[in-house]
Amino acid sequence: MNRKRIIDLRSDTVTRPTADMIEAMSRAELGDDFFRDDPTVLAFEEEAADLLGMEAAMLVISGTMGNLVCALSLSPRGSSFIVEANAHIQINESGWPAAIAGLTAKPVHGVAGKIGVDALKQAIAETQMRLSAPPSLLCLENTHNAAGGRVTDPSHLAELADVAHARGIKVHLDGARIFNAAVALGRPVRDFMRNVDTTTFCLSKGLSCALGAVVAGSADAVQAARRWRQVIGGGMRQAGVIAAAGRVALKSMVERLAVDHENARLLATRLRDAGLEVDVEAVETNMMFLKVPNGFDQHLFQSELRASGIVITPPKSGRIRLVTHREVSTSDIVFCSGIIGRAFDLAQRQKVCADADTTTAEVVY
Ligand SMILES: Cc1ncc(COP(=O)(O)O)c(C=O)c1O
Repeated sequence: MNRKRIIDLRSDTVTRPTADMIEAMSRAELGDDFFRDDPTVLAFEEEAADLLGMEAAMLVISGTMGNLVCALSLSPRGSSFIVEANAHIQINESGWPAAIAGLTAKPVHGVAGKIGVDALKQAIAETQMRLSAPPSLLCLENTHNAAGGRVTDPSHLAELADVAHARGIKVHLDGARIFNAAVALGRPVRDFMRNVDTTTFCLSKGLSCALGAVVAGSADAVQAARRWRQVIGGGMRQAGVIAAAGRVALKSMVERLAVDHENARLLATRLRDAGLEVDVEAVETNMMFLKVPNGFDQHLFQSELRASGIVITPPKSGRIRLVTHREVSTSDIVFCSGIIGRAFDLAQRQKVCADADTTTAEVVY
């Protein structure tokens, strides 16, 4: 069957495993991870911990599971956690902090996904009042997804972590896309881990694995997370099939993220040059936002794009997030930008016509 080529800009999670990964998965030496007998898992966890400069690491199924088991390990029920108001944990993880971990969120609005030092101090002071749930955890996110893949530099992360630690609060870094941050700043990933108690990163996003994420921290923290992983049904057996692809990802998929970043910037620049509202300077990694006007005909926009094989998510809060990844090439970007520009124009003109119709209707009736 001659399948039409699809250019999928919804997320970097759509990336499929590479031929090398599938080969590694099929050849992986396996054992039962419950007994810590799977050599591929053991090797992968050691390599991941080394790369992050952490004492220990553990494979989990997803980023959400990683964040959850870290929070369960660091924070007692009935306490509160401080989190950027639009962080993934706060808005996109189906409410596990309340539903499972017994935590109350103290959301703090950041700028470009970054919590300010004074805002953090104030949030801590507010949660330390007698009628509040006492703060036990600060959750940071890098890159920040809802802010459009924005990067927080290691020194700001370390400063926030210092403020938290000085007040007896632990720090978890949701680093689902931490390798994008590291590549964007040209810094080793371990630089982002200074002062962090636990972290999670994802294998299944820009790194192209089919599934998997990693939790890392001190040996004690990872041991506690391992117990919580078992509690929530996340224990695995021959998990080397996942870890084998993870090993390939850590060796060969990190540096190439720079191409995704260049492509996101190219797409943003071309759309801006075509007259669309895009903040090119805000594109730091593999995501960009396209602003849409009120009443914009998004159904027409999406169906026009789909007819050319381009898939996007619908607008949220007046903007559409477009994400680049390994399965979108630079020539795809050049092709896409022309189509997106024309479809946007059409969807906008449709709105103008609809507005004109409404005005007439109001005059008549
Ligand atoms: C910043 C961030 N953290 C965590 C996650 C959760 O990862 P998963 O989908 O593997 O549960 C995502 C997923 O998009 C994310 O963007």
